[in-house]
Amino acid sequence: MTQRYDPSAAIAVVDSGIGGLSVLRALAQHLPGERWLYFADQAHIPYGEKPADALRRYARRILAFLQEQGIKALVVACNTLSAAALEDLRARHPDLPIVGMEPAVKPAAQLSQRGVVGVMATRATLTSERYRRLKVRFGQGVRFLEDPCEGLVEHIEAGRLNGPQVEALLRRIVGPMQEAGADAVVLGCTHYPFVADALQRLLGPEVTLVDPAHAVARQTRRVLEARGLLRPNGAMGGVVRYFTTGAARTFARQIRLLVPELEAPVQPLPFFWMEELL
Ligand code: DGL
Repeated sequence: MTQRYDPSAAIAVVDSGIGGLSVLRALAQHLPGERWLYFADQAHIPYGEKPADALRRYARRILAFLQEQGIKALVVACNTLSAAALEDLRARHPDLPIVGMEPAVKPAAQLSQRGVVGVMATRATLTSERYRRLKVRFGQGVRFLEDPCEGLVEHIEAGRLNGPQVEALLRRIVGPMQEAGADAVVLGCTHYPFVADALQRLLGPEVTLVDPAHAVARQTRRVLEARGLLRPNGAMGGVVRYFTTGAARTFARQIRLLVPELEAPVQPLPFFWMEELL
């Protein structure tokens, strides 16, 4: 029997940390009537350096917690977690609408005039089967220059979105891409849009940064619409409940800095769940 979900329930958004806020920002614009439940697994950050089986284990437990809160859909707002766990989650929850992320290889390959594309993503994403398949499918004849951006997620989590340290790291990352003539750069991790300004300054206006957040938001809308799960008209939307496995006060500060328009209190995890999720 297929499980029925309640259209007035919240949509869950999951990431290892604050990266998914760049997706939540787009989701809230495309689906202004919806309610959100954002889960940051900051105790396990960075996901990009974790093995796939550990990521699948985290994902299963997080989804169990989210279902207990009452949700109608899940957006895995993390490229790394999507590459490792999306198929497993869908197999275990065939009725739950689950939308995932993937590096925007297809639009970048179409956009690039020179056929040279830079890809910024975590090591786990770059070595995943899902990413390899994407390149085979959409990247024929395109040269990809990839970088696992070691340390960048940590800088962003610490609120360093510009300044000498992070700019030196970004320069090292994009240097080889620029030398090879890349005219499109994929932001293949949801944390990276928060350094898009610094990146664009380094790369210059002729290079396009490709962030799939809006495409994912449109896809989420389509999926909900097709399943009759859009929140009924007239209901007050826009409310977000935030959870983290990390420090709630730090997370609250990060939310205020990055998405002030979506600010809301960070709720403590129930004790039982805290133990389960760590
Ligand atoms: N934000 C995540 C992604 O999109 C990864 C960050 C991490 O390494 O924890 O891949």
